Amino acid sequence: MEFTELIVKRRSCRKYADKPVDHAVILEALKQAQMAPSWRNHQCARCYVVEAGDFLDGFRQRALPGGNPKNAENAVLIITTYVRGKEGFWENEAGQFEPANELGDKWGAYDLGLHDAYLILALENAGLSSLIMGLRHSDVIRRELEIPEEEDIVSVIAVGHRDAEPVLGPRKPLEETVRFIK
Ligand SMILES: Cc1cc2nc3c(=O)[nH]c(=O)nc-3n(C[C@H](O)[C@H](O)[C@H](O)COP(=O)(O)O)c2cc1C
Repeated sequence: MEFTELIVKRRSCRKYADKPVDHAVILEALKQAQMAPSWRNHQCARCYVVEAGDFLDGFRQRALPGGNPKNAENAVLIITTYVRGKEGFWENEAGQFEPANELGDKWGAYDLGLHDAYLILALENAGLSSLIMGLRHSDVIRRELEIPEEEDIVSVIAVGHRDAEPVLGPRKPLEETVRFIK
């Protein structure tokens, strides 16, 4: 798909068709997401893919609050995390990692956001819609997926076949969000 068309077409999807999500397509999108830039190429994004099955059905209910379980029905779930203390950090002569500037681990979240942006666009390009969910129970997710303490759990991304055309959310005028300086 042409790139401009792709970024305009991608919308958060909250209704998925009861149709299998191909493992190979997810795998390929995850490979493409690895092309995202990261701090010193540390690549600290981590993904846990919960594919269709008995576990997914219960996990969706336990891991997500509010309307998210319903909105993510029929979708597989990709939990994305980053390894703390690496992105935005320098290794000193003693081999210890220390923050390079005031943002510290926020660079980990930044890099994961870049990774996830690539991921949802790669999925969209392959015909799969997605929904990033920041409302999730990280304690449940950590325990049930045995995610190491050194990783911060950030998002849960629902991925599946779109069953309804999502509404286009309005975007702010650029004058509100951008300033050009000469
Ligand atoms: C970090 C982040 C967290 C979000 N969390 C949720 C969520 O928990 N539930 C939900 O329905 N949508 C969630 N969204 C989706 C946003 O509401 C959506 O991206 C926004 O309204 C713009 O719509 P669009 O993605 O269709 O362009 C989240 C999006 C982002 C980027």
